[in-house]
Amino acid sequence: MAIPIKNETAIAAMREACAVASTVLYQLRERVRPGITTYDLDQWGRELIAELGARSACYGYQAGSRRFPAHTCLSVNEEVVHGIGSLKKILSDGDIIALDVVVEYHGYIGDNAITVPVGKISSARQKLLQVTAEALRLGIAQAKVGNRIGDISHAVQSHVEKHGYGVVRDMVGHGVGVSMHEEPQIPNFGRRNSGDLIRPGMTLAIEPMVNVGSWRTRTLRDGWTITTVDGSDSAHFEHTVLTTEQGPEILTLPRLASPVSVHAVG
Ligand code: MF3
Ligand code: CO
Repeated sequence: MAIPIKNETAIAAMREACAVASTVLYQLRERVRPGITTYDLDQWGRELIAELGARSACYGYQAGSRRFPAHTCLSVNEEVVHGIGSLKKILSDGDIIALDVVVEYHGYIGDNAITVPVGKISSARQKLLQVTAEALRLGIAQAKVGNRIGDISHAVQSHVEKHGYGVVRDMVGHGVGVSMHEEPQIPNFGRRNSGDLIRPGMTLAIEPMVNVGSWRTRTLRDGWTITTVDGSDSAHFEHTVLTTEQGPEILTLPRLASPVSVHAVG
């Protein structure tokens, strides 16, 4: 199957969907504080998405016989991705939480994620967030016309492993457009100059998931939440990127230059 190439109309629609996705993400971030439950955060996400006239692409998302029951993915500490908001999960000072927001707006999908501190975090956790955000930035820089997907993968992996962390292999980045997951798959590990050729008009969700310890993960009994096998911390950052002749363009960059956006993007 070929990688979808977006025309001008599709690109305009992707810009809007991604703007909605990033607006929700950074508004959600404002609500993160010790004492709040991940259920409350998810409900806030549900309301915001509805206010903006969009739909959560996570809610009801089907994998096998299961449907994802929440509106956003909220993953705390050793949770890697796909955490389900819960009244039992109360954020504490020093935690880290990955916020992953995927919305559909007028038929197109924007996908983005950040991992943020809850209150004051340890320097070890600070470093994990920084290295993962840098890995995303380095991966995006390789999303150049004429490069191959493996150039993105290799840039992410080498940065992560240079710092002694493990890069998750069971889940990958992906093309995104009218569906949440389109071709190509974008692993966060791989060889330079391998995989599909990058052409103009691709919209790619690049999303390093980085563990302090082993790259191995497991799935909790809820059927969704992915955690590290060894209980070590994990971080996740994601942007939807448009490939152009002039270089990669991040479609999920927050539009307003607020202090929030400064560390959010990494
Ligand atoms: N950003 C995640 C992904 O690309 C969102 C998954 S939504 C869920 O897979 F429904 F699968 F949880
Ligand atoms: Co994604």
